[in-house]
Amino acid sequence: MKEDIKEILITEEELKEKVQELGKILTKDYKDKNPLVICVLRGAVMFLSDLLREIDTFVDMDFMAVSSYEGTNSSGVVNIVKDLTTNIEGRDVLIVEDILDTGRTLDYLMRILNQRHPKSMKICSLLIKKGREEIKVPVDYYGFYIPNEFVVGYGLDYDDKYRNLKYIGILKEEVYS
Ligand code: XMP
Repeated sequence: MKEDIKEILITEEELKEKVQELGKILTKDYKDKNPLVICVLRGAVMFLSDLLREIDTFVDMDFMAVSSYEGTNSSGVVNIVKDLTTNIEGRDVLIVEDILDTGRTLDYLMRILNQRHPKSMKICSLLIKKGREEIKVPVDYYGFYIPNEFVVGYGLDYDDKYRNLKYIGILKEEVYS
């Protein structure tokens, strides 16, 4: 598996430090608010599970799955594959996502979820791809800006593989071309 990685972009240690940093900020911002943290499956699973353990206040969690990607390209059409089981009306909602690329997925999610009348809705994305944004999405918390490369690891996949790498790396082009 590791031989398919061209370069390690963010190390395990860097991820850990950043998640701790974000956890401290979220603990302060969500103290006594009992937020509902929504994990966007499946890419954000590792990030969510580490992040929640760095938040020192009560939180609820739920999961949502959307499909938009085919291989390394966004299909442009976003679909809900798995919906929430929690009623979000009147709740402080935090959407946790792995990566913001064109912005289509998060824009779609925000529009769908806003129709359900949450009290507040914020976004926490581990990664933001530089210069790729097609739709402006208000990201309230983020981990790292990354170059326009296809990355895998720490939950992010290519063809459902590489999610279990402990770091985030750039995939060798020959793997997907
Ligand atoms: P959009 O374009 O809607 O994309 O902002 C967000 C979703 O696209 C996937 N994505 C990636 N997945 N490596 C991945 O493993 C990448 O470099 C990458 N870029 C985008 C991801 O599922 C994200 O939720």
